[in-house]
Amino acid sequence: MSQPTIESILQENRLFHPSAAFSQNAHIKSLDDYHRLYEKAKTDPQTFWAELAATELHWFQNWDTVLDWQPPFAKWFVNGKLNISYNCLDRHLTTWRRNKAALIWEGEPGDSRTLTYAQLHREVCQFANALKHLGVQKGDRVGIYMPMIPEAAIAMLACARIGAAHTVVFGGFSAEALRDRLIDGEAKVVVTADGGWRKDAIVPLKEQVDKALAKGSVPSIAATLVVKRTGQEIQMQGDRDHWWHELQAHVSANCPAEPMDSEDLLFILYTSGSTGKPKGVVHTTGGYNLYTHITTKWIFDLQDTDVYWCTADVGWITGHSYIVYGPLSNGATTVMYEGAPRASNPGCFWDVIEKHGVNIFYTAPTAIRAFIKMGDEHPKARDLSSLRLLGTVGEPINPESWIWYQQIIGGGRCPIVDTWWQTETGGIMITALPGAIPTKPGSATLPFPGILAEVIDLDGNAVGANEGGYLAVRHPWPGMMRTVYGDPDRFRRTYWEHIPPKDGQYTYFAGDGARRDEDGYFWVMGRVDDVINVAGHRLGTMEIESALVSHPAVAEAAVVGKPDELKGQDIVAFVTLEGTYSASDELLKELKQHVVKEIGAIARPGEIRFADALPKTRSGKIMRRLLRDLVSGVEISGDTSTLEDRSVLEKLREG
Ligand code: WT7
Repeated sequence: MSQPTIESILQENRLFHPSAAFSQNAHIKSLDDYHRLYEKAKTDPQTFWAELAATELHWFQNWDTVLDWQPPFAKWFVNGKLNISYNCLDRHLTTWRRNKAALIWEGEPGDSRTLTYAQLHREVCQFANALKHLGVQKGDRVGIYMPMIPEAAIAMLACARIGAAHTVVFGGFSAEALRDRLIDGEAKVVVTADGGWRKDAIVPLKEQVDKALAKGSVPSIAATLVVKRTGQEIQMQGDRDHWWHELQAHVSANCPAEPMDSEDLLFILYTSGSTGKPKGVVHTTGGYNLYTHITTKWIFDLQDTDVYWCTADVGWITGHSYIVYGPLSNGATTVMYEGAPRASNPGCFWDVIEKHGVNIFYTAPTAIRAFIKMGDEHPKARDLSSLRLLGTVGEPINPESWIWYQQIIGGGRCPIVDTWWQTETGGIMITALPGAIPTKPGSATLPFPGILAEVIDLDGNAVGANEGGYLAVRHPWPGMMRTVYGDPDRFRRTYWEHIPPKDGQYTYFAGDGARRDEDGYFWVMGRVDDVINVAGHRLGTMEIESALVSHPAVAEAAVVGKPDELKGQDIVAFVTLEGTYSASDELLKELKQHVVKEIGAIARPGEIRFADALPKTRSGKIMRRLLRDLVSGVEISGDTSTLEDRSVLEKLREG
């Protein structure tokens, strides 16, 4: 049970075919069908996407151009008018789905709720009217800082309905991180809850919002809208804070969906990069709606009778695309779960599957590894026979965990889709189509139709079979991010200039290392930049370093990822201290807590090592690469000739 090593992956050549029965009933039934679709999309992408947009979505007004590509800026379905909340709700109300379960919710303490499409529509309309009542207008931004309760999805759909962009901030982020994101997005209103359940304790969300907004530090904020979840005492500020249940009693349930331009801002979602502060990834309406819709339909092979469950949090892109928008646009039944795997409830996921007869289950390798450790007796004591398809996302999955997932959870009968994608891509990019593409444990297999993914070198040339290189995409796709909010230059630099554009051909640089095998299958190896992936959460090493140096005791900090059995990677920080401070256990604890306060518990370093000096180049740059090798316990590789003082490294090695 460990992260895939290059050796284990190179030896991995098992091939698993879907059963004939699965393929026969699937949307995409054979490898030939996949290749036909892929070729069609490659030869004539505009017709491919236009046909899907016309048949799969409802438009208030047709577009006049499918794609306007001014690299690296894309516009899809130009001048088309639609509303994603209409596509997720209203259009199902005139069909039998009106009374179908849209959302099945399980709370951590054991409470639950089911909302039909008609009921969800009604609540979204009321929520939208409540937002309007608080002054939110088309074009405004709304912050959402919520636990995993139905109102999180309702708030997102309500924003989309009235043309306000949402910016969801994961409930595990600190008040400081929340404040930075609200300031950058110039949010007018924050939607939150009194608290949320997290591993048997209450996360005081409203209290964090109060801290984030203290002393008018987010000038754009006019109001907050607070959902009652946990019921503990909270401070409500007279003219600023409003209870959702109080407004709900007064607002109308009539709120027609605003016709939005295809390229109108749908949401901003902040994600970590290799430099500076987190960037606001911008997604717009039409292309995102189509891309999440069609990927959900084909990759999860959604059938109308399915109960579908993605275990992500709505604070991440996976929750946006594959709990809320993709499934609801397809009229599916989507499950939402507030709890998390924890020692006190090692069977919690399997209970939800048994209780609701979940057919399609989508989770992260880090969760799978945690469950392996908790023991097979927990899944074995539950009836998991409803499952017919499994998925993974967020990080490479090691073949051993893949096989466990297939055997113990899938009973050997369920295909597994290992889905590679990013906040920036909007939806899944490389994946098996479960009825069509045979799988290999540890490989995300092949690109989705319309996605011209390749493994290339830094000159932009494709590398040979089984050679390592950089994961890249050659052609724009509807779900792609449009820009970095407020910083188009950063968008260009970060994603489109690593590979020098040639003859007007721009290549999207994903930041991942990968190789393709002799069958063209992709094997994603992990980030090649200063981004680390801790338990499926993406963090910038520089962000954690800035948090550390903002503490008065810290002179310099260098943060690297260390391979970890359970979390994939763990955070190791090297710090040097200001003259008047000396190393102690207390200071160590304080520094960890300081990072939690600045960013959130997900960024808490597993280890902090005090050092006299950090390894630097002669020009003064910290050589993180050497520290990475050091903590990984591997031989220090690569060029060390630029190292200014070799003894620094020797000292660190001695600990
Ligand atoms: C990074 C994106 C959108 C998915 C949730 C994370 C890694 C994601 C896989 C996979 C190997 C994966 C990559 C990517 N990643 N899925 N199936 N196999 N690596 O979204 O926070 O934007 O992180 O997650 O390194 O670049 P994110």
